[in-house]
Amino acid sequence: MLDVELIRKDFPILNRLINDKPLIYLDNGASAQKPEVVIEAITKGYSQEYANVHRGLYHLSNLATEKYESVRDIVAKFLNAPNPAQIVLNSGTTEGLNSIAYGWAMPRLESGDEIILSIMEHHANIVPWHFLREKQGVILKWIDLEADGSFDEQRLIDAISPKTKLIAITHLSNVLGTKVDVKRICQYAKKKGVPVVVDGSQAAAHMPVDVQDIGCDFYAVTGHKLYGPTGSGALYISQDRMREMKPFMGGGDMIKEVHKDLITYNEPPMIMEAGTPGIVQTIGLGVALEYLLEIGMNNVAAHETELTKYANQQLLKLNWLNIQGNSPDKAGIFSFTIEGAGHPHDISTVLDKKGVCVRAGHHCAQPLMEHLGVTATCRASFGLYNTKAEIDSLVEALKLCHELFA
Ligand code: ALA
Repeated sequence: MLDVELIRKDFPILNRLINDKPLIYLDNGASAQKPEVVIEAITKGYSQEYANVHRGLYHLSNLATEKYESVRDIVAKFLNAPNPAQIVLNSGTTEGLNSIAYGWAMPRLESGDEIILSIMEHHANIVPWHFLREKQGVILKWIDLEADGSFDEQRLIDAISPKTKLIAITHLSNVLGTKVDVKRICQYAKKKGVPVVVDGSQAAAHMPVDVQDIGCDFYAVTGHKLYGPTGSGALYISQDRMREMKPFMGGGDMIKEVHKDLITYNEPPMIMEAGTPGIVQTIGLGVALEYLLEIGMNNVAAHETELTKYANQQLLKLNWLNIQGNSPDKAGIFSFTIEGAGHPHDISTVLDKKGVCVRAGHHCAQPLMEHLGVTATCRASFGLYNTKAEIDSLVEALKLCHELFA
């Protein structure tokens, strides 16, 4: 089990005060704080080891290239991908999902073809598919949730038709904490020859991920939610799909040769990596993933499961708190409104006065908000450094909101 007090010492920001109160950071769904090792790696990357990658023949450039390329191995280990060549290094999940839309789906899908999505997708796993709807007449098929906010994979499986050309599904909802049994979906989809894109943005930060066990075609993660720098991320692509990838963005690094009337492309995964990448950010991502691997994602998951159980008990006592979705096996993400209180923004502002950071808004998931019949919620999302005492502080701050507003 993870020693949370020891872990907290690794995160310098957790020592600071907000409005004269200790910082209680419960917005990990939006972005996680950074451990000292990541901050040091960024400083060293720029102050001691900086040069462009894949280009120079001098010591610094070779060093930066070596460090940058080693992150492919670390990501492969983190996701249990069979081969680092199946890892594309990018700026995050949004780029990863767009690169699938432009580099794989657009050249293949035609008018009338279907993409199946769940209603709880983040906009990053919706908007790229809307582009295909707008440009190519692709049909988006939406799968609803159960009344308790859980996801019935069978509903999705039943929706697969001969016209289904892609399934794009989150592994873990950024609003409700609902987990999806993506392995079960992939097993069935494979039999039907339908590729599956998994948005792992939230899941990878909360539980161990094994892309070989899941059997997905694409798995996208983002660095800043994994305690790494913003502007870093990775996309796992299965061998078969990797062979099918077309260039998504043109520029340096993704080509072999460029002539006046001819170009040839680099091998995958480099065909997906145009231009100077986020060098130091990616190196920082590698350090963050090594940090998580050392703690063990099983330990992170066990700690957060404890927190989630505790939060459930405490929050359910507040009978004026409307928790959106409460599936039995949810992760530590709670979305709520307060009966009679104003907009979730007001709640978040009051919580901030107590040093408690939560997100308020539509959480980049407007179809889900429509499904739930709300325009916005407040969201508390836990990370590996959160404690039960912080959940108690959240509860006290919510009681104050209720007194003030309701
Ligand atoms: N995707 C991030 C969130 O859920 C920004 O808040």
